[in-house]
Amino acid sequence: MWRCVSRSLRVPYSKRSVSNDSLRSHISGFFSTDSGEAPYTIVDHTYDAVVVGAGGAGLRAAIGLSEHGFNTACITKLFPTRSHTVAAQGGINAALGNMTEDDWRWHMYDTVKGSDWLGDQDAIQYMCREAPEAVIELENYGLPFSRTEDGKIYQRAFGGQSLDFGKGGQAYRCACAADRTGHALLHTLYGQAMKHNTQFFVEYFALDLLMNGDGSCQGVIALNMEDGTLHRFRAASTILATGGYGRAYFSATSAHTCTGDGNAMVARAGLPLQDLEFVQFHPTGIYGAGCLITEGSRGEGGILRNSEGERFMERYAPTAKDLASRDVVSRSMTMEIREGRGVGPLKDHIYLHLNHLPPEVLKERLPGISETAAIFAGVDVTKEPIPVLPTVHYNMGGIPTNYHGEVVTVRGSDPDSVVPGLMAAGEAACASVHGANRLGANSLLDIVVFGRACANRVAEIHRPGEKQKPLDKDAGEKTVAWLDKIRNSNGSLPTSKIRLNMQRIMQNNAAVFRTQETLEEGCQLIDKAWESFHDVKLKDRTLIWNSDLIETIELENLLINACITMHSAEARKESRGAHAREDFTKRDDENWMKHTLGYWENEKVRLDYRPVHMNTLDDEVESFPPKARVY
Ligand code: FUM
Repeated sequence: MWRCVSRSLRVPYSKRSVSNDSLRSHISGFFSTDSGEAPYTIVDHTYDAVVVGAGGAGLRAAIGLSEHGFNTACITKLFPTRSHTVAAQGGINAALGNMTEDDWRWHMYDTVKGSDWLGDQDAIQYMCREAPEAVIELENYGLPFSRTEDGKIYQRAFGGQSLDFGKGGQAYRCACAADRTGHALLHTLYGQAMKHNTQFFVEYFALDLLMNGDGSCQGVIALNMEDGTLHRFRAASTILATGGYGRAYFSATSAHTCTGDGNAMVARAGLPLQDLEFVQFHPTGIYGAGCLITEGSRGEGGILRNSEGERFMERYAPTAKDLASRDVVSRSMTMEIREGRGVGPLKDHIYLHLNHLPPEVLKERLPGISETAAIFAGVDVTKEPIPVLPTVHYNMGGIPTNYHGEVVTVRGSDPDSVVPGLMAAGEAACASVHGANRLGANSLLDIVVFGRACANRVAEIHRPGEKQKPLDKDAGEKTVAWLDKIRNSNGSLPTSKIRLNMQRIMQNNAAVFRTQETLEEGCQLIDKAWESFHDVKLKDRTLIWNSDLIETIELENLLINACITMHSAEARKESRGAHAREDFTKRDDENWMKHTLGYWENEKVRLDYRPVHMNTLDDEVESFPPKARVY
């Protein structure tokens, strides 16, 4: 039982964390246990908008909100420039036409085709049409793009990109800063954010949404990891930009911090997550280490070869070859390995050759991966191939939104019902511009376009300083009880053991190729892994820099994502994009051209579906009807 025990200011807390918004914040009281343990200090804040996450999507949203005059807080569990956006390498797609003639409609066609017709075409149109302006905006912000001889932004070839609706050959559409585009983009956006008066709450871990009884979102509750205080952020608009959950898998290019926290907050609030069965395997993670070797390396001329030295992609994708879309290349590599043509003593990986490329190209365009290959694979890329394997890289699914970034759910007969006050952008969100398979370099585009879209939408429907409903007195109380329970967990299993078990299950049972048998077994195993979480044991019971506690909350978040992923995959009886079933090898548009919605109810997964948007926004382009997807 919890109660508010005091409204005084007698408990010390870090002034640093809240000093700059002291006019809007106050200690409202404490939640305490009947057992008489030290109470949890609650600090209340009110903002027009709160952004959770400070990667590219979160920063772009925060910049836009501040520009529109909204009093904005940005809560982040990491220092902003440590966000996973920093690891993006290859670039950002936009039909700038710097290398050849180009058109955003051609980009849209490639993206619809790449999505295997699960993408919402209104959202895809929006993203591709906005792309050139978004990239020029980044240039104006100071992003140090690579350049052509005549000073234009350099654009490289990337997977699944074509000219003239697939009829004009390879497109050169991916603007880049060598192979460190995410690094350049994140630092550029952080610099811009510093020019505005967004209030950053750094190393604050968002725990839960504060939902009102009427189904609207009123903000979030977060833990200040430095001093253990809890903070309720009340806001008219809450924007989740918390990234993906790659770490549910054993081998992933994602940072260890990619734990699907925002997704899990949404699921705990009773809202659905969309299309989680679509997990992207990047063809070229370094064998063993899992570090990313950019698709840009194939864009610059790199080639995949099997143990017979064969450029096998010519057989699988005669036109696009090594630059077919990622799901196609990952499946082809897996088939080569299965058929005994893998390389290495165990014949369990593939070689990526860059050693035929001029050393000056490697130095100028691919310096980052040349270094990564040396450190993590002991390979000199000018002389030897890099050992690579398809590695989990991206979650196409996430929090369902419309193209404004507003979170949507099914209410009655409305499959697009907006959840008032709640928005999402970036990998956490599912707009759905990537559908069943994302094209390389559409992710950096997604984060800036939809981060900005969220800010613009807030400006359309709210005014700075608008009066907000008071929070319920006990808002966040359940979350505090949940946190306290986790903190005092005294079972028999360490967090790391449950996490490793979950990661192995996901790696084995929701892999590049799937069958009913592997998925049914996966559902049983992942449900058991969830059950085992009730037996978790924490050794550290403090609230100050308690990494044991944070990792355990992250594990719960990962498990919720993992359970919904496995059950959604088991249910989908077709092959589409990254969801490749050996027992249902064809795409089935009649029965399965629909988005999966996975709800987390009473610690179990419930599935529902909503239609794909086949419509475009206006008559600037016609929608692309489904057809066979060949490269
Ligand atoms: O291969 C890469 O550089 C990754 C790009 C992306 O995922 O968009």
